[in-house]
Amino acid sequence: KMKADIEKAKAMKDEDKLYRHQGILYVTVMSPLENLQALETLEARPDDVLLVAYPKCGFNWMIGMLRKMMVITAGLEKDPEQIPVMEFLSPEMQKILSEYPSPRLLGTHLHLKNIPASFTAKKTKMLVVFRNPKDTAVSYYHFTNKNPVLPKAESWDKFYSEFMSGDVGLGSYFDHALAWEKRVDDPNVMIVTYEYLKQNLVEGVRQVCKFFNFALSEEQIQTIAQGSTFEAMKENSKDSHGQLGNVFFRKGEVGDWKNHFSEAQSKEMDANSSNLAATTSLLTRPGT
Ligand code: A3P
Repeated sequence: KMKADIEKAKAMKDEDKLYRHQGILYVTVMSPLENLQALETLEARPDDVLLVAYPKCGFNWMIGMLRKMMVITAGLEKDPEQIPVMEFLSPEMQKILSEYPSPRLLGTHLHLKNIPASFTAKKTKMLVVFRNPKDTAVSYYHFTNKNPVLPKAESWDKFYSEFMSGDVGLGSYFDHALAWEKRVDDPNVMIVTYEYLKQNLVEGVRQVCKFFNFALSEEQIQTIAQGSTFEAMKENSKDSHGQLGNVFFRKGEVGDWKNHFSEAQSKEMDANSSNLAATTSLLTRPGT
């Protein structure tokens, strides 16, 4: 499916690669409108495991770890063909999803207001991954230039402006984050950051297991953390992500923004993030 999507995208003009729906840009080949419309009626289950992340915040890192946890505790298949990003699923695939056995591992890049309402109604646990917006923007810049499903950025400065105004796929980082500010104390929501995981991977895995009530031994937790370092995942990326392996696992560091941002851009982004007190405090504070 991924191969077919890439071929389809290669035949498209850059300006057709994103389309706008209710004010937010989406990736045409990955999430056509019919997918989004079908999602509105997707039935969540209380025991679904839902991972939420704005693009480039570490989604593939965390979904890889969740899969390993669930292979052990829930008998999940080791090598599924489909990465379970809800909005990438066609209406037909969404029907198949409704017949999957529980617990299901699901992911999404959608803004909170566009996550199917039944996830909140059913009190499904949601794990949200954030990353500091500067590194997120830099990662997204390289990604848009290397992934054929996305339009090429003319320059860093141009991409930076689009990121700031939310004119990139999946919309504004800042709007995405702002919506979670009000949910930080929700017992069904756990927010973890890329930066925290980089520093405390074992503890991060332990906390995620605790949140979802995954019964893993200390040894299993250590093994998952060891197999989920950037180096380990990059090594394995040809198997997990095919020809885009190197694109998804690029540098894996905190602070690469310093190689791209001007002083003025850095200041502007700090000002733009000033209303994200709860989520940005988690970038440096240990998770709970
Ligand atoms: P960089 O482009 O800065 O390297 P997503 O999966 O949400 O698209 O995020 C991709 C970013 O996460 C990339 O950042 C990628 O390298 C990084 N990443 C993926 N796996 C990682 C890991 N195990 N440890 C650290 N960073 C990782």
